[in-house]
Amino acid sequence: MHLTLSHLPSKQDIKLVYPRTPSSIDPNNPPWPAFRGYHTYSFAYATMGHRLPTILGKAIDDVVETLNQESEEDRVVDLVDCIKRMDELKEDLQAHAKLRPIIDDGEADVALWNKEIAKYFQGKDFMNAPWLFAEAYKYRRLRECFSVSKLWQQYDVFFRQKCDTFSRSGDAVFELSTRFVEPFKHKEGLSAQEKLDAERLMFLELTQICLWGNSTDLSLLINMTEEQIKSLQSTGGENLAATEKNILGNDMARLWEVVRDLKDTGGRIDFVLDNAGFELYCDCVYADFLIQSGLAKEVRFHGKRYPWFVSDVTKKDWNWLLNMMVYGHLFPKVTDEEVESLRQLGLRWKQYEKEGKWVYEQHPFWCTGYTYWDLHNEAPDLFLHLSRSDLVIFKGDLNHRKLTYDCAAPPSTDFEIAIGPMASAAGAPRICSLRTIKSDVVVGLGPNGDELADKLDKEEPGWKISGKYAVVLLSEGRPGEKVRFA
Ligand code: F6P
Ligand code: MG
Repeated sequence: MHLTLSHLPSKQDIKLVYPRTPSSIDPNNPPWPAFRGYHTYSFAYATMGHRLPTILGKAIDDVVETLNQESEEDRVVDLVDCIKRMDELKEDLQAHAKLRPIIDDGEADVALWNKEIAKYFQGKDFMNAPWLFAEAYKYRRLRECFSVSKLWQQYDVFFRQKCDTFSRSGDAVFELSTRFVEPFKHKEGLSAQEKLDAERLMFLELTQICLWGNSTDLSLLINMTEEQIKSLQSTGGENLAATEKNILGNDMARLWEVVRDLKDTGGRIDFVLDNAGFELYCDCVYADFLIQSGLAKEVRFHGKRYPWFVSDVTKKDWNWLLNMMVYGHLFPKVTDEEVESLRQLGLRWKQYEKEGKWVYEQHPFWCTGYTYWDLHNEAPDLFLHLSRSDLVIFKGDLNHRKLTYDCAAPPSTDFEIAIGPMASAAGAPRICSLRTIKSDVVVGLGPNGDELADKLDKEEPGWKISGKYAVVLLSEGRPGEKVRFA
């Protein structure tokens, strides 16, 4: 049948208005269109279809290795069951199975997970749920494979990989430990202004070290060679000057002003951590400088309660790093002086912990599928806690995805708009995102950002996942205002 619709109104060119207003936002109505696993053009597709099954396959290999070294029958049998559950998860993932509720395994986040699944993801599967949620859900299900066991509840399938990569990072580790082993002090005879200038330069270089420490996350670099690790971790001054041009949205100068203004009393700075091993080590070098220079009197580190996105920091990784620095024999070809530099650094960091200058925390919210637009509503205690910080530094790609709702906002979008309530809610702290770009979402590139991104799309396909580029973005927030909950 062919109808001639000459009397009906003509078709309208419908323009959706983004971002949606915060009150109408939920995971099925994101502020800008969300990335999903079935978007074949996106990194989400490659991750859900290929990377995650590979990561799971490697995790199973790790458990098999542990199994082969186990002697007690009850432990062996219990671990075999964990492997069966991992196999089932891998099948679910590859068959694009529907997302089911999390089993009540006593973890503090079960209610948060199941509430979100019931409200927004009934009938959704690994591919058509928003990528961020589906990917996080996979790590929660992996956790469940062990948390419901009797004897392997705390097992970390990624622990070997995390330790191994750090043990192959010797060059960069000693480059930093031999420079920073002596507590920071100014040269004799400097004026107050010269001292401040020296602190500024050091702060800016260390900010870059902390930033680029994020390029070595293990979920992307599955089979990295020693040479590749070295080139990613090169921390020399010349290299840093060259890499600064790769920071496409760069608020470092403003960041220094924020930190400088804390100097009189010494502020509280929080790190929402990303990866264990070398990145964590860089974070700690940075935090050490903040304490020694008097810019901060307290640093709080926020880690994960269980293994997450392969290389993220857990309390076990934190303890491992500090103890290995003081007592370990991890690096074979090193001088006694180098070993001693690492030991001294480790002892100093442990002392900070004892004195309460450094505090390690692990709120359950960090291991959920919620973005940080929901932090205020879903974890009010955490929001209140962060609101008392002078600066909250979010490390890495996943934290950036969660800050920005992981959706396709134009690259020219202001960071403060892209992070919604984390910037606009009363009492929102100052926030800085230190992120090497490793996935689709890119914001904060300034007024010409859309053109710049188009140019890179044409000239350097893959620029959004290579980790070659980065952003250092700052949101002023609304610090000091009374936090309110509806
Ligand atoms: O699987 C993709 C991803 O979630 C991306 O966010 C990023 O590529 C990686 O995993 C994690 O990176 P990061 O450790 O910097 O958060
Ligand atoms: Mg990570």
